[in-house]
Amino acid sequence: MFALLPFCVFAQQSIDQRVEELLSKMTIEDKIGQLNQMDGRRDVEKIKDEVRRGTLTSIMNIVDPAVTNELQRVAIEESPAGIPLLFARDVVHGFNTVLPIPLGMAASWDEELIEAAARNTALEATERGIRWAFAPMMDIARDARWGRIAESFGEDTYMAGRLAAAVVRGYQGESLSDQTSMAACAKHFVGYGDAEGGRDYNTTTIPPRTLRDVYLPPFKACVDDGCASIMTSFNDNDGLPSTGNRWLLTELLREQWGFEGVVVSDWGSVAGLIPHGVAHDKRDAAQQCIVAGCDVDMSSRSYLLHLKDLIEKGEVDEAVLDEAVRRVLKLKMELGLFEQPYARTAEKSDIYSEEVLNTACRLAEESVVMLKNESVLPLGEDVKRVLVVGPMADAPYDQMGTWALDGDKTHSVTPIMALREEWGDRVVIDYIPCLTHPRDKSTAEFKKMQKAARKADVVLAFVGEEQMMSGEAHSLSSLDLQGAQSQMLEAVAEVDTPLVTVFMAGRPLTIARQVEISDAILYAWHPGTMGGKALANIIFGKSSPSGKLPVTFPRNVGQIPIYYNHKHTSHRAKGTEGNLDSIPREAYQSVMGHTSSYLDVAPSPLFHFGYGLSYTTFELSDIAIEKTAVTADDTIRVSVVVKNSGTREGTEVVQLYTGRKTASVTQPMKELKGFQRVTLAAGESRKVEFELPVSRLAFHNRDMVLAVEEGKYTLWLGTDSQNGLKTYFKIIK
Ligand code: NOJ
Repeated sequence: MFALLPFCVFAQQSIDQRVEELLSKMTIEDKIGQLNQMDGRRDVEKIKDEVRRGTLTSIMNIVDPAVTNELQRVAIEESPAGIPLLFARDVVHGFNTVLPIPLGMAASWDEELIEAAARNTALEATERGIRWAFAPMMDIARDARWGRIAESFGEDTYMAGRLAAAVVRGYQGESLSDQTSMAACAKHFVGYGDAEGGRDYNTTTIPPRTLRDVYLPPFKACVDDGCASIMTSFNDNDGLPSTGNRWLLTELLREQWGFEGVVVSDWGSVAGLIPHGVAHDKRDAAQQCIVAGCDVDMSSRSYLLHLKDLIEKGEVDEAVLDEAVRRVLKLKMELGLFEQPYARTAEKSDIYSEEVLNTACRLAEESVVMLKNESVLPLGEDVKRVLVVGPMADAPYDQMGTWALDGDKTHSVTPIMALREEWGDRVVIDYIPCLTHPRDKSTAEFKKMQKAARKADVVLAFVGEEQMMSGEAHSLSSLDLQGAQSQMLEAVAEVDTPLVTVFMAGRPLTIARQVEISDAILYAWHPGTMGGKALANIIFGKSSPSGKLPVTFPRNVGQIPIYYNHKHTSHRAKGTEGNLDSIPREAYQSVMGHTSSYLDVAPSPLFHFGYGLSYTTFELSDIAIEKTAVTADDTIRVSVVVKNSGTREGTEVVQLYTGRKTASVTQPMKELKGFQRVTLAAGESRKVEFELPVSRLAFHNRDMVLAVEEGKYTLWLGTDSQNGLKTYFKIIK
């Protein structure tokens, strides 16, 4: 218990000195215990025994402060080294107040609001004793079959980096030592989102240049923003599982990037080297992973069981162990755990507070993407009777989405609740769910629904996915609506009443047919606790949709992977291909012009990245670039005039893309390099200015060096990835 004594002396020393002092007094067992993290969903007395023995550094998944505080007391007062525990949890999108899934948050393109919401999340979680959050997840996700696309910020590298960094800032606050701060954990390092065929946990084959230019930059952005920890990924890339990849965890992350925080394995992924087939047993796995640079073993106990023997036999240098322990102690000291080890007590609880709920509601509103609107929305004064149908209209649990471990469904505001509460006085609201849940196949209520639809001025259909259809280990081979939802929409669309279809789902679904038969489409993702209120506000026009897609929507599953920033190819599709009926029977040689496309589906997606409508319209004009020739260390200044040309206030997301045709290695057609949300009153115009450091255009060149290449570039300022104004510039010596 030597750590207890010098607390006040400690406070005056630098953290590094304190770490060294503590480390010098620790036994090898104390040290190994500091690298072992376990799940807390077990018998508390058994956990206490372990804590008492000093074999745990961190416990996951206990959110009762009475329990965490008691375990903490045992760690400090009864364990050999007296080092406080660090309590961890998957705090991925909100805590008690559930925010939209990260893919939904990304659709807001609002990093300030995301940061504010993440701060609120930290307030809630720290009240429950959680000081380490396993988020943000910044895997680039280009395959909607992968269930964890829900947890990602979508398909774009630059955007994922910016939004993930906002979460890091929100979680970590101004100082880690503040009791309302949690250490963030950037995950999954790296490439996990590229799992073969979208099958979770599967192999990835990401070549070195793509790894560096597409998958690594979001992590670099978080490291640069002071992210306290990083979690390895389950996948093996090109033969090497990340948790045992020394190049990744040490040479790149620490030596090149200068990361000084903690690396934690993903759950059991140290021992995961065994089924991957690169380690014989846990001892072998422990040896490989500690040497690779993985500091903390999440839940496999490989370090606990074998590190001592490995060190004694000279197979792991004790200096390697010390280095890992140093990082863990440093994090605990930075979090102020030695001074304030217990869950904070708030004078006024932040859990489900008005402020927290309001921010969640705003974020849910901003995450809604309007994909179609044939002048139905917002519902006006003329709408007197509404029919609400569909299994997601009142699904308080499902609307929270994946990883809503601490969300309480009794706090969820569902669409039907909000519609009745806010508009029930003015509008008659009939409600026929038709299906009890999204996989329900019953058609029994369809006739009744059609009859009610005939009497209504508009039908609002809430369809989508249950919570458990996306997330970890929840991949799908078909992205069509489950159960009888499509048939339900077909049946209601037969009636001549305008149909508004609202999707609540963890991923882009294949919705071409539903788009065709609906008069308006809102894509709300899994919007979280306040989802229903956010949707009611949009449907009745209290707010205007401003979300933009953070991911490309395919026409069918066969088009996957499909993403906007694909490369130039030698046989570029023209956009007219994909019509089987147009191919003559006798054609042997392709009549399709030898392009990179399918015979049976157009090369374009259903909806492209960056797309989203509003209740007003925006026009861009007068794109102006300050200098048309810049050097590698310049900053490009470019502006465009945005005009709200409609009749009500609205928000546009102005997106900046660049692209070049010729370089030393093949390039994406265009890449997002900046974005800004702009709110304008009806008729208002504003000049929107961007500053783009030329260094942001660097890529790994033919010699695999990260560099800016001279040459001609196109720069687009647009309202999505396909529409905008363009200008040109050159990078010169
Ligand atoms: C496994 C998941 O891959 C990871 O994202 C999560 O943080 C850990 N389990 C801990 O629950």
